Amino acid sequence: MARMIALVPAAGSGSRFGAPSPKQYLQLNGKPLMWHTLATLAAVDAIDEVAVVISPQDEWFDDFDWNLPKLSIHRVGGACRAESVTQGLQALACAEDDWVLVHDAARCCLPAAAVERLIAALAQHQVGGLLALPVPDTVKRADSEGRVGATVSRNGLWLAQTPQMFRAGLLAKALAGVAAEDITDESSAIERLGMKPLLVEGDAQNFKVTYPRDLALARAILAARDAE
Ligand code: C5P
Repeated sequence: MARMIALVPAAGSGSRFGAPSPKQYLQLNGKPLMWHTLATLAAVDAIDEVAVVISPQDEWFDDFDWNLPKLSIHRVGGACRAESVTQGLQALACAEDDWVLVHDAARCCLPAAAVERLIAALAQHQVGGLLALPVPDTVKRADSEGRVGATVSRNGLWLAQTPQMFRAGLLAKALAGVAAEDITDESSAIERLGMKPLLVEGDAQNFKVTYPRDLALARAILAARDAE
């Protein structure tokens, strides 16, 4: 039977965040930020393994007690996200038809229900798909001087989130055919093969911690969840 593997690329340096250690290791409610991400994925019954890809030069991972079921660690991260995912897939030696759910380490407030929704929606799907949210706001395109150049219709626009779920064989093939630094998610590599991944409604809580200002919201969401 096909396995279901969550693959978490966590080899980024978090340069936009500007902290001395990568953001995935910042303390958040008593644990490293990425612990919350991994714990949610491990708690999803349908997921067999949670594989985290860190940089071979990572100096932080071993400082923490992760104490999570299903976890495997792969020190094979690359120069960009797509390289980290590609090398993670090679290290995992997946079967062609295993499902892989690629999830950003920094989306630490991912609700388990959203992952279960994605898995259920894709059970019979030929291509795979991703969590995403319809754009709620009016969208502006800036000109070179930071003024409004145009208002863009939000009709049919979605914000891509993760997990992004594809068969391992298809994903490896898609990533092998692209200039890795050009793509910021797995879906775009699949789209370049002419395929159409399914958009599955995500969750506003599943945002990516990118800047220091995002930490307060992540703290509040996780604390409210713990109190439930
Ligand atoms: O930089 P960005 O926020 O788009 O990174 C998305 C995910 O890819 C993060 O989980 C980050 O750690 C990971 N990444 C990686 N290897 C890199 C760059 C980013 O695993 N070289």
